[in-house]
Amino acid sequence: MQTFKRELAAAIAAVADVPPETLEGLFSSPPDRSLGDLALPCFPLAKLRKTAPPQIAAELAEADLGVPWVKEVRATGPYLNFRFDRGRFSTAALAELRAAGEEYGRSETGRERTVVIDYSSPNIAKHLAVHHLRSTMLGQAMANLFRAAGYRVVGVNHLGDWGTSFGKLLCAMEHFGEAEGLTARPLAERDDPIATLNSLYTRFHAEMETRPELEEEAREWFRRLETGDPLARARWREIRDLSLARFQRLYDRLGVSFDEVIGESAFEERMGTVVEELEASGLLEESEDAQVVSVGEDVPPFLVRKKDGTTLYGTRDLAAVQQRWETWHFDRCLYVVDAGQGLHFRQLFTVVEKLGWPCADRLEHSAFGVMRMPVDGGWAKGRTRDGRVVLLEEVLDHAVECARRAMEEKGAEVDDPEATAEAVGVGAVIFSDMKARRGKDVNFDLDKIVSFEGETGPYLQYTHVRFCGILRKAAGYSVSEATGQHLDGEADLALLQEVLLFPEVVARAAEEAEPSIVGQYLLGLASSFNAYYAQHRVLDDDPAARGRTTDRLALVDRLRVTFRNGLRWLGIAPLERM
Ligand code: ARG
Repeated sequence: MQTFKRELAAAIAAVADVPPETLEGLFSSPPDRSLGDLALPCFPLAKLRKTAPPQIAAELAEADLGVPWVKEVRATGPYLNFRFDRGRFSTAALAELRAAGEEYGRSETGRERTVVIDYSSPNIAKHLAVHHLRSTMLGQAMANLFRAAGYRVVGVNHLGDWGTSFGKLLCAMEHFGEAEGLTARPLAERDDPIATLNSLYTRFHAEMETRPELEEEAREWFRRLETGDPLARARWREIRDLSLARFQRLYDRLGVSFDEVIGESAFEERMGTVVEELEASGLLEESEDAQVVSVGEDVPPFLVRKKDGTTLYGTRDLAAVQQRWETWHFDRCLYVVDAGQGLHFRQLFTVVEKLGWPCADRLEHSAFGVMRMPVDGGWAKGRTRDGRVVLLEEVLDHAVECARRAMEEKGAEVDDPEATAEAVGVGAVIFSDMKARRGKDVNFDLDKIVSFEGETGPYLQYTHVRFCGILRKAAGYSVSEATGQHLDGEADLALLQEVLLFPEVVARAAEEAEPSIVGQYLLGLASSFNAYYAQHRVLDDDPAARGRTTDRLALVDRLRVTFRNGLRWLGIAPLERM
């Protein structure tokens, strides 16, 4: 609708003698179509012109706007209501929708602006658990949406590959590697090397109960790692490579990619300079057993360095801010990280501000809520009944299995049932994460998620399939012959206007880093279409209705493209059959 609103805003602005930009964002739908097809509240105009809103509305209603697709302008209290010349409006609208082709939904909103998005960013030597899904998929969707809105996007996977826990792991390999059979079957030869690393880690903690000296040994191993000891480095590198390979399997399955994969380990050198800068600006304070920066009365201080000289997660994040700023000069840098790390980011951003770095107000924590798993009839945070973390791979496999069963029951006819079940199952899991605003906690209810009914991923995929089906059945028509002039009924126009909102919706979802805005829009559009389809015939064989049928098919085709791109950008495969 942007083009139309802009055209109308310019015409009104010229008559009312105000800047057009003040009007563009004000248009809304009238509460009732009998009032008109578009409305403009006159309050802001009245303020600029220092007159009462009803008066300015009445004045403007008399003026000749010279907009060809506006047939009538009427003042209703403080509102101006516009009635369209529907044939003309629909013709222009359809032409615009078609001009965008298969890329419909993209815009230039973010032109020349750069957004860095830090997402997924798991710790190595661990499996991706189902809660990693949130950061990974929300971040990927944000990256897609920002790109669609014309931004330059840098997606960063900031791997947790450094820190004292790796000292523990190396120490455990040294002591218990033999017992875990690592000599007979090294990590690289195992199906699931991460599982082996996990059990080494667990074992280390169990043994530490009776052998407290292990703690100091582990610290020594981390020091060796930090100072570049070849053995420590080689083992660490192997762990890192194996973990990445394992992550990649899931990233491929989920359609996730990054522009930069960089570990916390990469910031060793830069951390030194950052700590010096903190020192030089007098921000560094000695606390009992650490060096810290105070960040405010009611917030605990930001830890920079422990007494033994080792640096921390936060210090590495501080160095990463500097590297990102120097490399990309971003307009925004988003951290797609769970709300539980809110304090960390508050501290980090305050330190950046205290350092006077110019990017301080460009950093944002795009927080998300917890994902809870069903346990004993209730919900618990990310763990099963026996306290095990739920692995993402297991959940995806299970969802795909459910999708396969549902398709069999429905007797779906598709060329490649395996690939379709995979797309439906994975899409279902992804959409469950895009449905509600990201700040909310979600209950991960697999049965509901994979259902073809209700507000689910499969339901949206199925809606896209229906559009494709209708268009396949209409072989005797050519949507390129549509003029749009027959889309003049109230329902046609309402649906057309809803489709016209898509590029604005995408831009707003990007701007607010909120993929659920697109998710909710698609749900709304699906239900509008279903209501429309129940009452209006799209494919009418009557030769006299050929023009209208062609126009309606063209509208269905634009709905198809809207769903195709909306689903794609959320990370869900738009299937043609299922
Ligand atoms: N590796 C961290 C974790 O698993 C998340 C890192 C988020 N990104 C960042 N720049 N701190 O909790």
